[in-house]
Amino acid sequence: MRVADAGESDSYAGAAPADLVLVCGVFGNISDPDIRQTIDFLPRLCAPGATVIWTRTREAPDLVPTVCDWFEASGFALRFLSDPSEPYGMGAHTLVDPPTPFASGKRLFTFVR
Ligand SMILES: C[S@@+](CC[C@H](N)C(=O)[O-])C[C@H]1O[C@@H](n2cnc3c(N)ncnc32)[C@H](O)[C@@H]1O
Repeated sequence: MRVADAGESDSYAGAAPADLVLVCGVFGNISDPDIRQTIDFLPRLCAPGATVIWTRTREAPDLVPTVCDWFEASGFALRFLSDPSEPYGMGAHTLVDPPTPFASGKRLFTFVR
């Protein structure tokens, strides 16, 4: 187990590349630009074909469709998305593009709520 700031890329040193990456309880607590930036960074944490499981509230404005667009723009394909009638969104995306090298010293996100 590691106790560290999840918003710092250095916290993942030695844990990447991973076959399974969980980003749960994060996207509802950070700014939209930080969500985008974090998704863009995820291929640096992933092994080839890795799966990312993530969550985001469906509260209006529902950002889940945009989150899916951002995953696809970052080289992922949708594998599962919870039904829109559920109050909490949960998605699983698989990396289909080649992974990118791990990068230290990057600020990914800061909790704002
Ligand atoms: C919404 S809860 C989600 C908890 C759990 N991951 C889940 O999905 O049920 C967010 C958690 O992230 C923790 N947290 C906030 N900022 C953090 C950071 N920079 N690094 C690591 N954890 C953080 C909070 O203390 C809180 O426990």
